[in-house]
Amino acid sequence: MASRITPLMRTAAHRCSVARIAPVSLKTAAIRSIHRAEALRNKPGSHSRTDSDVEIPFPPEEELPSDPLRRAGGQYVKPTLQTFSLHKNVGLVTGGARGLGLVIAQGMVYSGADVALVDMNKEEAEKQTKNLVDAFMRENPNAERIPKVTAHYSDVSDPASVDSCIVEVIQQHGKIDNLVTSAGFTENFEAVNYPIDRLRKLWAVNVDGTYLFATSVARHLMERRAPGSMVLIGSMSGSIVNVPQPQTPYNVSKAGIRHLASSLAVEWAHAGIRVNCLSPGYMMTALTAKILDENPDLKQKWVSLIPMGKMGDPSDLMGPAVFLLSENSKYVNGVDLRVDGGYTLT
Ligand SMILES: NC(=O)c1ccc[n+]([C@@H]2O[C@H](COP(=O)([O-])OP(=O)(O)OC[C@H]3O[C@@H](n4cnc5c(N)ncnc54)[C@H](O)[C@@H]3O)[C@@H](O)[C@H]2O)c1
Repeated sequence: MASRITPLMRTAAHRCSVARIAPVSLKTAAIRSIHRAEALRNKPGSHSRTDSDVEIPFPPEEELPSDPLRRAGGQYVKPTLQTFSLHKNVGLVTGGARGLGLVIAQGMVYSGADVALVDMNKEEAEKQTKNLVDAFMRENPNAERIPKVTAHYSDVSDPASVDSCIVEVIQQHGKIDNLVTSAGFTENFEAVNYPIDRLRKLWAVNVDGTYLFATSVARHLMERRAPGSMVLIGSMSGSIVNVPQPQTPYNVSKAGIRHLASSLAVEWAHAGIRVNCLSPGYMMTALTAKILDENPDLKQKWVSLIPMGKMGDPSDLMGPAVFLLSENSKYVNGVDLRVDGGYTLT
């Protein structure tokens, strides 16, 4: 996600209670008082700077909204390139229970793929398997075959959990052809105060989690001597620095994903395994909508920086993801496909 913003009252007590971190040291407090001074605001360049007042820990699980599935399919009645079809493919989507992963999984199902939704929140993933199949049947009442959609638990940052999840998916689907890594999160703390335990957690999920799933699926494809296509979900934050929210570790993690895709693309090209990065800009997921409803100024600031003048809808990622997974992109390897309304161009 490009960012999640809930500006908080900045008292030391509040900061410690939400973030569960040690009290701010005197040295840190001194640094803060220097660069937060009002005198530095409204100076030339201030609109393209991060603002240390914006501090947002990732919300607790029970506060996260669940995304209702929207209609975005359509019966296969209009001519289209057959090479867009994912028919007979099995796709695995990490972070598939919610948000962008779920919508991309929906695009894959609508394109005929069987899909394994992998998430730490298995209960939500299970609920969505039925929703995806129901939505497919509503949109395609005459379809000859109904895609199989399953739910699986994994903590993507834990190698043992990743390995057992891959075994379970192969047991239930017979194989894996496509991977989408969407499990990831962001938080906003200025770099000088970023709690180290949270930084490590963020990199473990965003970077290690992507690496572990990509390598595990690649081993499976190589054993089968089968080609495959992977889409690693990065972010425009891997190429630019968002403002006003400070999020250095997240930006670093997403720059890592971009180059991970390029590096693996070169390493696995001999095996017919393509790896591309898909980098969303600001997308209006249910959670982002909730946060921005509470912070209209922030939405205005973000939108003012997007040449297309609006945030993206999660469904805007369906086509680009399916394109990268399908045969249509068979000579596209190691790219960073930005879906950001032009944000990174200016
Ligand atoms: N929403 C945006 O505007 C946006 C923009 C750019 C990039 N992204 C990226 O897209 C991806 C998905 O973001 P989203 O907005 O859909 O987030 P989200 O929080 O709505 O969904 C993320 C999903 O990942 C799962 N997850 C988190 N940690 C996990 C772990 N350790 N193991 C397994 N599953 C885990 C969550 O349970 C959740 O279902 C992230 O990588 C994010 O950085 C999002």
